[in-house]
Amino acid sequence: MAARLMQAVQYDRYGGGPEGLKHVEVPVPAPKKGEVLLKLEAATINPIDWKIQKGLLKPFYPRKFPYIPGTDIAGEIVEVGSEVKNFGTGDKVVAKLPHATGGGFAEYVVAKETEMAKRPEGVSAGEGAALPVAALTALQALTQPAGIKLDGSGQQANILITAASGGVGHYAVQLAKLGNTHVTATCGARNIEFVKSLGADEVIDYKTPEGAALKSPSGKKYDAVIHCTTGIPWSTFEPNLSAKGVVVDMTPGVGSLMTSALKKLTFSKKQLAPLILSFKAENLEYLLSLMREGKLKTVVDSTYSLSKVEDAWARSIEGHATGKIIVEP
Ligand SMILES: NC(=O)c1ccc[n+]([C@@H]2O[C@H](COP(=O)([O-])OP(=O)(O)OC[C@H]3O[C@@H](n4cnc5c(N)ncnc54)[C@H](OP(=O)(O)O)[C@@H]3O)[C@@H](O)[C@H]2O)c1
Repeated sequence: MAARLMQAVQYDRYGGGPEGLKHVEVPVPAPKKGEVLLKLEAATINPIDWKIQKGLLKPFYPRKFPYIPGTDIAGEIVEVGSEVKNFGTGDKVVAKLPHATGGGFAEYVVAKETEMAKRPEGVSAGEGAALPVAALTALQALTQPAGIKLDGSGQQANILITAASGGVGHYAVQLAKLGNTHVTATCGARNIEFVKSLGADEVIDYKTPEGAALKSPSGKKYDAVIHCTTGIPWSTFEPNLSAKGVVVDMTPGVGSLMTSALKKLTFSKKQLAPLILSFKAENLEYLLSLMREGKLKTVVDSTYSLSKVEDAWARSIEGHATGKIIVEP
């Protein structure tokens, strides 16, 4: 019998940017043990998607070509593989696929049940699909290296969030404000009111001298920095940190890894913590429950159809999204 075909977007070599993405017809994948087949409802783009295409994570990702990018999706289960325990046909879920294999930018997607959480009523497919990489990273950064308790029970902490208008940053502001925090945020002038509306206590324009110096307008020293952009040296952070302040770096490069090692070796009280997302399904469930309760929202920068995914890809590469970029089938 001829294989059932579906529309998908893939690339077959490193580089090429948006033009490197090809629209193809490929067989619908079959779920194996512990997996389900999802009909795609929505997906999102994260900077890591085009960084993988650029070859910045060579030789780890992708595992092989051709590669269907996209890891953060929402979908409806249409087929269940053997030994799937907690999900059934008709369930609507949010999934985080592995970067090594991708697979999200397609009409049908296979996901492991350990990579998913049910999408509650009242949370749209786009809002849910936007969550995994960006919101889980914000959650991990705030609760682990920064040590913020999101039930508000911890000691008061002063937090700086850089690039608070972006995918990670806009979730970080909202999550930080669930804890006992004072949030200073950086963004461009056009997004100052937007970032305040997310709950930030004070907002600085990163293109002004005060913004570039990361100075809190009220003179606060930061106990933690959730650093969601690049190109800011340790010497800029250091004078703004409290005695035991930590900078959590979302985009650690060689310089940042060396600074981090040096701070540890010299027993510095001020630390730099590189962060790599470690996926936990219970954290995704927690974020979805916050969303259902109205305590967390996804702000959508723009929405593109899968047939125009190269425009969404280009929008992400430009680096000026406010919130998340959504792709719909
Ligand atoms: N370690 C991990 O596991 C992990 C996970 C997720 C993301 N990341 C990384 O975290 C970074 C942020 O990701 P994202 O999804 O939030 O990116 P994004 O949504 O593309 O960020 C875009 C936003 O950043 C703002 N921005 C750019 N430069 C800025 C600066 N110097 N100061 C203040 N705001 C600035 C832009 O504002 P304007 O338009 O006004 O310039 C725009 O609103 C990326 O490098 C990504 O790869 C790492």
